[in-house]
Amino acid sequence: MDSFSTSSLSPYYHLIFTFLAFVISGLIFLFSKKNKSKKLNFPPGPPGWPVVGNLFQVARSGKPFFQYVRELRPKYGSIFTLRMGTRTMIIVSNADLVHEALVQKGQVFSSRPRENPTRTVFSCDKFTVNAAVYGPVWRSLRKNMVQNGLSSMKLKEFRAVRQTAMDKMIEKIRAEARENDGVVWVLKNARFAVFCILLSMCFGVEMDEKTIEAIDQMMKTILMVLDPRLDDYLPILSPFFSKQRKWAMDVRKQQIETIMPFIEKRKKILENPEFDKTAASFSYLDTLLDLKVEVGEKVVDEKDIQKMSYLNAVIKELLRKHPPTYFSLTHAVIEPATLGGYDIPTDANVEIFLPGISDDPKLWSEPEKFDPDRFFLGKEDADITGVSGVKMIPFGMGRRICPGLNMATVHVSLMLARLVQEFEWSVYPEKTRVDFSEKLEFTVQLSVTNENYHTP
Ligand code: HEM
Repeated sequence: MDSFSTSSLSPYYHLIFTFLAFVISGLIFLFSKKNKSKKLNFPPGPPGWPVVGNLFQVARSGKPFFQYVRELRPKYGSIFTLRMGTRTMIIVSNADLVHEALVQKGQVFSSRPRENPTRTVFSCDKFTVNAAVYGPVWRSLRKNMVQNGLSSMKLKEFRAVRQTAMDKMIEKIRAEARENDGVVWVLKNARFAVFCILLSMCFGVEMDEKTIEAIDQMMKTILMVLDPRLDDYLPILSPFFSKQRKWAMDVRKQQIETIMPFIEKRKKILENPEFDKTAASFSYLDTLLDLKVEVGEKVVDEKDIQKMSYLNAVIKELLRKHPPTYFSLTHAVIEPATLGGYDIPTDANVEIFLPGISDDPKLWSEPEKFDPDRFFLGKEDADITGVSGVKMIPFGMGRRICPGLNMATVHVSLMLARLVQEFEWSVYPEKTRVDFSEKLEFTVQLSVTNENYHTP
């Protein structure tokens, strides 16, 4: 599950009263459904209300969904069921079960569940790599992405773009620190840098900073629009959400209007490279040659990164202890199946709670401790693809493993190496401890984003 936030549901909590008026019709729905599911042996889970199941318990808790799940684990174990209105969610959080689902039964568990109406519009009716059901459409979209967009050759080709984005990021942080007495907003700058790289790779046309920021803003709005709503779980309530639906459609229109000109431009350039003089002479190598290289210590180059074993240990520990996402994308089975002896019907969402594996004391010594030495000193290790054993799978595993794995790790390594090389970091306000509490903003982030910097 990618971005469930109960805070997005709580404003609608007053609808419960309106909803009660629908309970009777809901019950009819329940009974018609019950016949189908009464023989199924679902994993245990907290008792819920008729029709709505656990939906309002989750919403009323006011907790982020991952927190809610984390608190249920001690009671219900590593596979349990949450009933969210018309959706059944099976939460899985243990290495053996994940191995059973994504490797032993990988062919069956590699699909995606049906989308809510808003997501269906934004995914062009599931015609995207991430949303497509397991089958020929997904296979060809994925093959195209892996072979043509994210291959290691393409990754190499964009090295200059990454270099430029990193230099720009350092420059921006330095300027911000100068203007702001050493206090900088790291996340904003890091996000911008990665976004520049991704846009270059995606559109192959130059964009100014304002445009990049506008597209970034638009993407954030899209993520907000895609946040689950009450009517996604109880479609019977959809008449009460017409305003939200209109908002979603307006955002979609804005997305198309923003992106289309770049697609058109790129098409024209491909037909005639003379069409746009800037684009025709667009070469990342040129930008690299223009680069003002700092005198003194050699700037970290990405080809050095593989040899930087402590950096790699830190990144691995970061991905273990603070994975950007707590849940893999939602899985679904293509035909009725079993998991851990329980029945999994085709309309169930299978949610894989990743920290259940990476925090498991049976797999890790002192898992709660952030300790890069576990990897650096070779005391422990893990294959993050899960192929040779499931101990941490921040990118998922099996057939639907994140195809951006290599690109993502190159970005994180390069960024961290440059940030550490160029600046001396300390916590802001001074003499406080880093606050590791988490919040969910599409990805999991630290609640506190400001840090202090002193020039080396
Ligand atoms: C640190 C960064 C990243 C992390 C932790 C991450 C993690 C994940 C996870 C957990 C999944 C779900 C796997 C599953 O369904 O079992 C996923 C899927 C996916 N990721 Fe990433 N990802 C990252 C960066 C990227 C990047 C940079 C790209 C592309 C440029 C990307 C593209 C995708 C796509 C297309 C899918 C869907 C694959 C499919 O359904 O076949 N990711 N990612």
